[in-house]
Amino acid sequence: MTDSDRGRTGAREFDLILFGATGFTGRLVAEYLVKKRPSLRWALAGRSFGRLERVRNELATLEPSAKELPLLVGNSMDRAAMDRLVRRTRVLCTTAGPYARYGSALLGACAEQGTDYCDLTGETHWVREMIDTHHARAVETGARIVPSCGFDSIPSDLGVLMLHEALVARGGRLAEAHYRVLRMKGAASGGTIASALHAAERMGDPSVRRVLADPYALNPEGARSGPGPEDSFRPRKDPETGRWLAPFFMAPVNTRVVRRSNALLDQAYGHEFRYDETVDVGAGFTGLARAAMTSAGMVMSGAVAFAPVRMLAARLLPAPGEGPSREEREGGWFDIELLGVGTAGERVRARVGAKQDPGYGATSWMLGESALCLAQDELPRRGGLLTPASCMGMKLVERLRAIGMTFQVESAPQ
Ligand SMILES: NC(=O)c1ccc[n+]([C@@H]2O[C@H](COP(=O)([O-])OP(=O)(O)OC[C@H]3O[C@@H](n4cnc5c(N)ncnc54)[C@H](OP(=O)(O)O)[C@@H]3O)[C@@H](O)[C@H]2O)c1
Repeated sequence: MTDSDRGRTGAREFDLILFGATGFTGRLVAEYLVKKRPSLRWALAGRSFGRLERVRNELATLEPSAKELPLLVGNSMDRAAMDRLVRRTRVLCTTAGPYARYGSALLGACAEQGTDYCDLTGETHWVREMIDTHHARAVETGARIVPSCGFDSIPSDLGVLMLHEALVARGGRLAEAHYRVLRMKGAASGGTIASALHAAERMGDPSVRRVLADPYALNPEGARSGPGPEDSFRPRKDPETGRWLAPFFMAPVNTRVVRRSNALLDQAYGHEFRYDETVDVGAGFTGLARAAMTSAGMVMSGAVAFAPVRMLAARLLPAPGEGPSREEREGGWFDIELLGVGTAGERVRARVGAKQDPGYGATSWMLGESALCLAQDELPRRGGLLTPASCMGMKLVERLRAIGMTFQVESAPQ
């Protein structure tokens, strides 16, 4: 019997544990799952029984059956406790971040115990560290470990996969893809700000800076090069539409995930695959002015590398546990266009979006559906540190379409 078989043959008490259920995003994921009433055995987990009980009481006002949800207590810094916790479930979904601060023992426990895992991290340096430390063990135990199942990086990763599928269905192959944010409205939570500030603090370490500057930072050894990086803080004109493109602040995270997917999918998009992400800020002088302001804002955000700026930001911005109100979430949206270009120059366009703010409303749907996909869908039985596209692929696209998100190929390749 292999480690992988051993981890899976013993029946587990739960199909899914939601860890970090007391946090801002964790509460939204719990609410999503409670309203969906999935037919599985699941539980809420966190470090404080009292806080978990309060969350469960709130959930029971939305859906009375929530009062039956088991509550499990454990501190994520305690590796032995995390091993015991994750042995009880087939899937562990966690919103306890910053992940580089609170997530390593939990992810390591899942890799060791053959427990499938999904999270919301956008902390590339941490994911690299987790790949180096746990990928090989997760391959042995069969644990499917899937970081970045929120706004970073599902629209990017599954959007590109969708372009690839559309071209392959017509006998072609993807050579490049361009992601353009057309419209987006949302705000940040305290946990996201804490994660960004923690990442900025780590920038003091040259090895972290090297990882963050590497466009192939998440790729396996032997697949860590390709066409030159296309990350740039400079505004540029879209040669196709003549409109101005500004840098997108999540591109340094998402592009690494998409490139890892390509490597894990045996270079399905090709060794020469090119990918970039930008924001379409409009045409003419107004577009240029907006692009210049966005670029300047990105450069100035580098100031958080300095400790006094971080301290000020932590005091002025939302604290952990806080985030945009229900009205703000429901009044938010995002709309992304992806252009795929095939090896023969053929073009295909796709749209990804939702009528919810990207960071919390839509993210809680995406993470909730990722956890359900891992727990309920027939997926390739391959362990390791994976990506949404390489692990859940079109099964997850179908789930997200079914709940009303846009994942649509707009035009046949021409
Ligand atoms: N990728 C995306 O699109 C996306 C979107 C949204 C959020 N995120 C990320 O998700 C993470 C959470 O954000 P958030 O705003 O929900 O944060 P938050 O409100 O601060 O919640 C953090 C959670 O972690 C728990 N926690 C902290 N330390 C712990 C420990 N030692 N043991 C067990 N639990 C612990 C907290 O428990 P207590 O309640 O007991 O303090 C809380 O439940 C952040 O890293 C953020 O960047 C990503």
